[in-house]
Amino acid sequence: MMEWTDRHCRFFHRLLTRRALIYTEMVTTGAVLRGDRARLIGFDPAEQPVALQLGGSDPGALAECARIGADFGYAEINLNIGCPSERVQEGRFGACLMAEPKLVAECVAAMKAVVAIPVTVKCRIGIDDQDPELALATFAAAVVAAGTDALIVHARKAWLSGLSPRENRDVPPLDYELVFRLKAAYPRLPIVLNGGVATVEAARDHLAGVDGVMMGRAAYQEPWRLLAVDPLLFGAPAPFDTPKAAAFALMPYIERELARGQRLHAITRHLHGLFHAVPGARAFRRHLATQAVKPGADAGVLAEALTMVLDRPAELAHTAAA
Ligand SMILES: Cc1cc2nc3c(=O)[nH]c(=O)nc-3n(C[C@H](O)[C@H](O)[C@H](O)COP(=O)(O)O)c2cc1C
Repeated sequence: MMEWTDRHCRFFHRLLTRRALIYTEMVTTGAVLRGDRARLIGFDPAEQPVALQLGGSDPGALAECARIGADFGYAEINLNIGCPSERVQEGRFGACLMAEPKLVAECVAAMKAVVAIPVTVKCRIGIDDQDPELALATFAAAVVAAGTDALIVHARKAWLSGLSPRENRDVPPLDYELVFRLKAAYPRLPIVLNGGVATVEAARDHLAGVDGVMMGRAAYQEPWRLLAVDPLLFGAPAPFDTPKAAAFALMPYIERELARGQRLHAITRHLHGLFHAVPGARAFRRHLATQAVKPGADAGVLAEALTMVLDRPAELAHTAAA
């Protein structure tokens, strides 16, 4: 998620679930080709499996970036056809490409031709005054014919004019049934549902109708929920019993990154929601927000913040998520 997630966030989330597939925020082809590549798409192998999400609409540039992503070691390349921001529309990528399924198909085919890892697409159910049933069916048919390995559907339309990107994540109504019908039409294609899934229990329930569920805001804003992913969705033990244990496990990473010149806040900002609604959660958050930004702040700041909050046992996390 642009402006929210980064490799520090992924490293931390990987301490909360070993099994979930983690996606990068969208990185444009221009940035990958001309930017500081190591900073933009570099990652720690401990984050795996990680998918690189690309934004673009030039098949040649996307193929080149897919190849670069595969060389970096990413587990999957994903193409963003869901972002509604104006900057993105000017660049002719993101959600506006819901209106150009043929071009998206060319992009998918070009990427598939050069990498052996899965190439997937994340889309909306339509844009503006498109009929979602028809728009999604047409779009899916095109990208399936081009060889997409999976389709992730944010189950609401994007309105490209009149709504801000933020409003476009809440205002257009969700239509999960349309995504379930798409799955029924493509039994062999992995279909992943996204949008408004607030708990891991809700994700599990959706798995009756689709192959996977992508969680965005809930995963970021309340990362403690991720401790339920491995037990509830994969039948595997949680990596840690409690959020506090996971936070302590982040300490060696923090020390390593600080030694490389990273600021503490760049890492701990991703922990602000770790103790959502637990006694002391506000003090924990406030301590991190005010102290981790200070020059020279070290891992001790996180240790202090952790003394201010009660822990949440994993079982409690399950109950609270229900
Ligand atoms: C701050 C922010 C940045 C986002 N950036 C991206 C992005 O880079 N790529 C993407 O596919 N979706 C992005 N999204 C959309 C989410 O991935 C997701 O599709 C949307 O929020 C609906 O799912 P949710 O209700 O689980 O959050 C972003 C959402 C937010 C809140």
